Amino acid sequence: MIRVVATTPFEGQKPGTSGLRKKVPVFQQPHYVENFVQAIFDSLEGFAGQTLVLGGDGRYFNREAIQTVLKMAAAAGFGRVAVGKGGILSTPATSCVIRKRKAFGGIILSASHNAGGPQGDFGIKYNIGAGGPAPEHITDAIFARTKTISEYRILEAPDVDIDTLGEVGLGEMVVEVFDPVADYAELMRTLVDFDAIRALFQNGFTMRFDAMHAVTGPYAHAILEGMLGAAPGTVVNGTPEPDFAGHHPDPNLVYAKDLYDLLMSDAAPDLGAASDGDGDRNLIIGRGQFVTPSDSLAMIAANAHLAPGYSGGIAGIARSMPTSGAADRVAEKLGITCYETPTGWKFFGNLLDAGLATICGEESAGTGSNHVREKDGLWAVLMWLNILAARRESVADIVRGHWVTYGRNYYTRHDFEEVDAAAADGLMNALRERLATLPGQVFSGLTVEKADDFSYHDPVDGSVTTKQGVRVFFTDGSRIVYRLSGTGTAGATLRVYIERFEPDAGRHAQETQAALADLVALSRSLPDIPGRTGRTEPDVIT
Ligand code: G6P
Ligand code: ZN
Repeated sequence: MIRVVATTPFEGQKPGTSGLRKKVPVFQQPHYVENFVQAIFDSLEGFAGQTLVLGGDGRYFNREAIQTVLKMAAAAGFGRVAVGKGGILSTPATSCVIRKRKAFGGIILSASHNAGGPQGDFGIKYNIGAGGPAPEHITDAIFARTKTISEYRILEAPDVDIDTLGEVGLGEMVVEVFDPVADYAELMRTLVDFDAIRALFQNGFTMRFDAMHAVTGPYAHAILEGMLGAAPGTVVNGTPEPDFAGHHPDPNLVYAKDLYDLLMSDAAPDLGAASDGDGDRNLIIGRGQFVTPSDSLAMIAANAHLAPGYSGGIAGIARSMPTSGAADRVAEKLGITCYETPTGWKFFGNLLDAGLATICGEESAGTGSNHVREKDGLWAVLMWLNILAARRESVADIVRGHWVTYGRNYYTRHDFEEVDAAAADGLMNALRERLATLPGQVFSGLTVEKADDFSYHDPVDGSVTTKQGVRVFFTDGSRIVYRLSGTGTAGATLRVYIERFEPDAGRHAQETQAALADLVALSRSLPDIPGRTGRTEPDVIT
């Protein structure tokens, strides 16, 4: 029986950079999940009898939310929900499965790299039939609906067993529990040279992949150790846990410090890699050589032709605006366009669909291609393995060689977390008001060339997205970018992105923070970060 439940709107059910993210206790309020899921369904048309793909990163509250979505999808009239066994499905695998099954769309239960557990974060994101995150006109409609919602519909039924493969009925709908790894692994096999990578491991190549107790564990075990023959034990922290064993499943130098330390030590394997909570981010570290995400994008693009899936070359590259310009230099050499989009993977969707871009990436540790419509952590790792197998050089040699050819973009991001929201808004607004006056001014020897607030004009659908971050360019080619995160769940996070291009190979061996020290100092004094936020040092440096 379908129950129609009266409800009232919750404040703030606004999807951010990547879906709705809040603390678990917020989601646990009666009707909270139901309201949002109903708002999603109310914002879509034509799904009667169609398939919805459903899964999550296994974090705390995943199983409860899966049951709610199943019963609401049955009440809404979906014909089938394909759910990953145990409720597990990485974000890129969800995108893969949506596309392969020509599903109407998908719901991903994840807060990505944010901490999990009873007091941690949870999230709900809707992806469209092309496989990517819903574009803004849909997320705007969902948010508008959350503000007027007065009832939701849910099937009264016992919980569905999501741990046994196969099909069961739920009202008029079919629930299909499927292996979350199989389709994804099959797709990877068509893109990268599994034989060459298997031979690489056979010849003694060593690796550590840290799944961070999150969703990529099963994928990495099956693909790296199973299909590619990496030594058992290559994958560590490979069992997904609801609280990620108390860690932040964020593959950066702060939260994956053990991996970093190992790669910088005498006992380093040839390659270290990690992925985040939902499997879309990646971290790549060679023996003694960290690869920044912006550099990794450029290097994957420059070498993509070595992988069978891209042997015909790439059509274009896309990067988010705050990502360094390293990829632009590769695009220039290849004679292709490098598109610059706002932060948020959803902005790549149109470029990929239209065949304008093949490889995309972001400074926030996301890299991907047109194989799915999400960034893909394990794909990036497999691309690096393919490149290493084909070039038979170390990561460090490939990185240094790349800089000699293209120059080096020194790059860092400084995050000020949980800043008072009003103070953060005030800082951004004050910067915006000064934009017109900045050009020509000299700060600590650096002359401002131009300054703006980034707007994106989508070349495919013509949509315009404004206020995507304040950019200050200097005459020597350096750049400072300020924007507020759209993924935080407490206060505001101010992100400051600092970049300088160095063409001279004799000056490529500097430590990043030292190479950027003057710009870093200026990045704080220019908008008066200490005065406006009370912070003198960032919480995280990537
Ligand atoms: C998610 C999105 C990315 C984005 C990142 C950081 O991972 O999928 O596209 O780059 O969040 O976003 P933020 O708004 O926190 O800087
Ligand atoms: Zn993620």
